[in-house]
Amino acid sequence: MQKRKLGKSNLEVSALGLGCMGLSYGYGPATETQQAIGLIRTAFECGVTFFDTAEAYGPYRNEELLGEALSPFRSEVVIATKFGFDFDAEGGQSGMNSRPDHIRAVADAALKRLKTDVIDLFYQHRVDPNVPIEDVAGTVKDLIAEGKVKHFGLSEAGAQTIRRAHAVQPVAALQSEYSLWWREPEKEIIPTLEELGIGFVPFSPLGKGFLTGAISETTSFDSKDFRNIVPRFSPEARKANQALVDLLGRIAAGKQATSAQVALAWLLAQKPWIVPIPGTTKLHRLEENLGGAAIVLTPEDLRDIEEALSAITISGDRYPAHLQARVGK
Ligand SMILES: NC(=O)c1ccc[n+]([C@@H]2O[C@H](COP(=O)([O-])OP(=O)(O)OC[C@H]3O[C@@H](n4cnc5c(N)ncnc54)[C@H](OP(=O)(O)O)[C@@H]3O)[C@@H](O)[C@H]2O)c1
Repeated sequence: MQKRKLGKSNLEVSALGLGCMGLSYGYGPATETQQAIGLIRTAFECGVTFFDTAEAYGPYRNEELLGEALSPFRSEVVIATKFGFDFDAEGGQSGMNSRPDHIRAVADAALKRLKTDVIDLFYQHRVDPNVPIEDVAGTVKDLIAEGKVKHFGLSEAGAQTIRRAHAVQPVAALQSEYSLWWREPEKEIIPTLEELGIGFVPFSPLGKGFLTGAISETTSFDSKDFRNIVPRFSPEARKANQALVDLLGRIAAGKQATSAQVALAWLLAQKPWIVPIPGTTKLHRLEENLGGAAIVLTPEDLRDIEEALSAITISGDRYPAHLQARVGK
């Protein structure tokens, strides 16, 4: 697979990474450990060198999984993880926490779980309203100076926060939601990243599965699946948003590709410093998604998509209100 550089940082990764969250968290029961390890190692064999996790995925279990799965080829891959929450005894998030002492403790614990001596990319998972971003950036700068972290990242941060953080410690990458059904970053975020030379890592690039066409109005999710509380996944919203899935299906058929591949190729075509991180728990879908890196959308294709998209209104918020309050800060 082709490689890409995340902005002006020298961090080079495969054009598509692997989002590992769903193997442990978010979309129903965790995948059986040996099966999950097999999937991660297959991704590496297929050319993926960029693996995304977070302390919060499990919590902890997803980092442990990556530690075990990637240890045979640790020096050949880039591992990105995230800090920024407290957890209760049941593992639920009990609040945001980006205080400097906490960031340091999370880094030390993550290094152990990931079975490594350096975190390649350490993101703040959500902007903490109680800690100035300069203090967060300064703490990661210290961790970089100590050799525990290589690069600093932010997730779902607003343009002003990105600028303030970048002035203290250059930000290598922003990880925020971006896809054919969430294009808000095009307004202010992408121009800011371009100006500052920061890479962009779109999460949920397949619209949490919706853009692939595998989910319809009648699909029911596991009781633990996060999508049960996402307004955009209400049966009414799914019905209303089917027009987008149909559009993608038509474009995909014309390219002898799948809808998932077109959704990923569209992101790759936006900027050469964009690296999407699709997630899956299934080997055949992993191979399908990685094929998206080889699909070239011509300027005419992109114009047709743009034109068709402009006639479609997406229905439903991407987060329930209590989580919406944490993004874009
Ligand atoms: N920074 C943040 O706040 C944040 C938030 C969310 C996610 N993330 C990161 O971004 C990564 C990707 O995001 P995501 O997992 O939310 O969403 P996604 O990659 O857009 O979609 C994943 C979902 O799509 C399904 N899927 C994947 N490939 C498919 C295909 N070819 N055909 C049909 N269905 C397919 C998967 O189900 P199966 O497993 O059944 O294939 C899964 O339910 C995560 O793993 C995580 O690392 C970060």
